[in-house]
Amino acid sequence: MAQFHWRIPIHGCKGDLGSPLYTRGTWGALADGNLGPTVVRGEPSAGSTYHDYLLQVARAAELSGFDGALIPSFPDSEDPWVIASSIARHTKTLRFMIAYQPGWFDPLYAAKASASLQRLSGGRLLFNIITGGGGPGQLWWGDRIAHADRYRRTTEFLDVLKGVWDGKPFAYDGKFFKFDEAFLPAPLAGQVFPELYFVGSSDVALAAQGKHADFDLSHLEPEANLVRKFERVRELASKDGRTVKPAVRFNIIARRTKEEAWDVVRRAWKNVDWNAIEERRRQQRGGDGVGSWRIDATRNSTVEDMIVEDLWGGFGTLGSQGSPLGFVGSYEDAAARIDKFIRLGVDGFVLSSTPALEEAFHVGEEVLPLVRGSAPTLVRAAA
Ligand SMILES: Cc1cc2nc3c(=O)[nH]c(=O)nc-3n(C[C@H](O)[C@H](O)[C@H](O)COP(=O)(O)O)c2cc1C
Repeated sequence: MAQFHWRIPIHGCKGDLGSPLYTRGTWGALADGNLGPTVVRGEPSAGSTYHDYLLQVARAAELSGFDGALIPSFPDSEDPWVIASSIARHTKTLRFMIAYQPGWFDPLYAAKASASLQRLSGGRLLFNIITGGGGPGQLWWGDRIAHADRYRRTTEFLDVLKGVWDGKPFAYDGKFFKFDEAFLPAPLAGQVFPELYFVGSSDVALAAQGKHADFDLSHLEPEANLVRKFERVRELASKDGRTVKPAVRFNIIARRTKEEAWDVVRRAWKNVDWNAIEERRRQQRGGDGVGSWRIDATRNSTVEDMIVEDLWGGFGTLGSQGSPLGFVGSYEDAAARIDKFIRLGVDGFVLSSTPALEEAFHVGEEVLPLVRGSAPTLVRAAA
């Protein structure tokens, strides 16, 4: 059975897909027009913080039937390890997927923190291993290591993370990490090792994940590109005698009818601030990542112009993170589209939407049961 994860908006959340303002909790700058309901007279009301909102999203994901939640990590986000340990204590079954770059940690320290999290959460930790896209984003972390070496560092990091996990003395002589006798002491040693999602498109990335990853996580792209990537993932993992399962991450707007879903998108499209988008594009500077599929809307583009196959490519224009490509449609069509991915071999899904709290219920309560073969909430209510 495929895994379903909901993405926690650790870098602010808007109350409406079409709004430019990050009004959930206390994330956005405290200024007129950007004050969420939890900010009263310029102060967080009753001590409510952005963190409280993130916990609500996590609980909504758990309540509505998601297996887990992705906690991404960017220079301008909260820290995923800190948020994860809090989510772990405020949920019961939800798994939590911490996104991080191996360059940020010593691998023994990461093993220790991971084992602690496994103990306090009852083994609910997963990772999304990111290696970084180079350019200004990478320099923000002070990371000047070039592309191929970054993946070598990731491979070495995971060698050590796995090597020290069971508590037996482990020696390692790598280019980036050297240990004589490293190990996790009792009672940290011997927890369930976290499942590994892994992102990257280049051959070095796929070779690195072939050695260690459980899932290859890709942003959504047109189907032929995805199929090509899945084949390369299979080919490179088989060199290590392993299987790496495909997983995809995308934005989704699902409603009772497809008209209702498209109305959400059309309303948001009317509010697009084209001046801001054009300014952002002028300032964008690339890194050394192999890059993802793009579609750029212009001032003259309509909602319909952004339809690609049976998906919609306007999510980036609306300010959503990740691939511009996602799904818009009815609950039934969303489930059918997910089934189609599953037939292509996809075994893990990281879904996201805005606002993350309310949309978690639309997808979790109405779409996931159709995929899993149980009755969704609306069907149960009608019966
Ligand atoms: C599904 C997915 C999720 C990602 N999440 C993050 C993230 O949370 N933080 C981050 O800094 N980069 C994230 N990235 C970007 C990667 O850091 C980077 O661009 C990618 O590893 C480049 O791979 P390549 O060098 O093989 O092209 C993500 C990429 C993908 C595809």
